Amino acid sequence: MHTRWYVLAACAAMSSLAFAVLHAQAPSPKKVLIAHRGASAYAPEHTLDAYKLSMAQGTDFVEQDLAVTKDGVLVSIHDLTLERTTDVEDVFPDRFVEEKSGTSIIRHWYVHDFTLAEIKRLDAGSWFDKKFAGLRILTFQEAIDLVKGKAGLYPELKDPEFYRQRGVNPEKLFADIIKKNGLESDPKTPLILQSFDDATLKAAAIDLPTVPRVFLVAPQTVDRLNSAEKLREIAQWATGIGPNKAILEKLPDLVTWAHAAKLTVTPWTFRASAPGKFPSVRDEMAHFLFTLGVDALFTDNPDLFPRTR
Ligand code: G3P
Ligand code: CA
Repeated sequence: MHTRWYVLAACAAMSSLAFAVLHAQAPSPKKVLIAHRGASAYAPEHTLDAYKLSMAQGTDFVEQDLAVTKDGVLVSIHDLTLERTTDVEDVFPDRFVEEKSGTSIIRHWYVHDFTLAEIKRLDAGSWFDKKFAGLRILTFQEAIDLVKGKAGLYPELKDPEFYRQRGVNPEKLFADIIKKNGLESDPKTPLILQSFDDATLKAAAIDLPTVPRVFLVAPQTVDRLNSAEKLREIAQWATGIGPNKAILEKLPDLVTWAHAAKLTVTPWTFRASAPGKFPSVRDEMAHFLFTLGVDALFTDNPDLFPRTR
């Protein structure tokens, strides 16, 4: 057990170094832009068009949320299910599962119940706007091929516990594809892994020690971050935190605690359609970057990211 934690601590130190090189020392003078699901305010999330547009808008990183198909392929899609962002209900009308939600019965088409060949038949663009009809769900490999050498990759393994319960090891699938593509340390294609799941990041600390790891935290689990001591514990296996932006309002010392623990801070998600109390999303992002001192952020509007104060 001690040996395992020694290895973890050593891995954390190595990947912290890699992250420091990427972002400079925290707090970083260079603020980092992550295109949330691509330029998802303007094109359907996680499609070729959304990823390409985000790079044309100058993003530093392109985010991929990752799910696993029935035949074990990582694909770029946010949800566990296909119905929100594709026409699966028309193409495979009988392939749903029914689940109880309160007093209602809801039909779901899970990504993991479909092969890649079946998923490639789906239209992933029309739900957003008819002009994007025919866009397909991308495999993670296709996303890598598109982004490699032009921007960084910022993948999130979605719902790893769901896949573990179905006998899938999503962390291994991820480590294999990263190694196959030589992305453990590609200076032209920085890579940062993010997850809400501690176990995913702890596994990556061992299998991919040079890859920085960001621990995502939702408002419901704010107590994971509510003391300097908790931040120091997280720094044993992560290199940064990714809090929902509302958490920063609740915990005004969070950036100080995180930076003291050598953790970067990357809140989410900033969108022009919901700038909160600010006149514009650019003002909101500027407040978080230059007043609160966060290092990076996720936005649906990469074109509105304020590079300077
Ligand atoms: O990964 C950061 C942020 O994207 C988390 O929220 O639901 O958009 O994946 P979600
Ligand atoms: Ca995400």
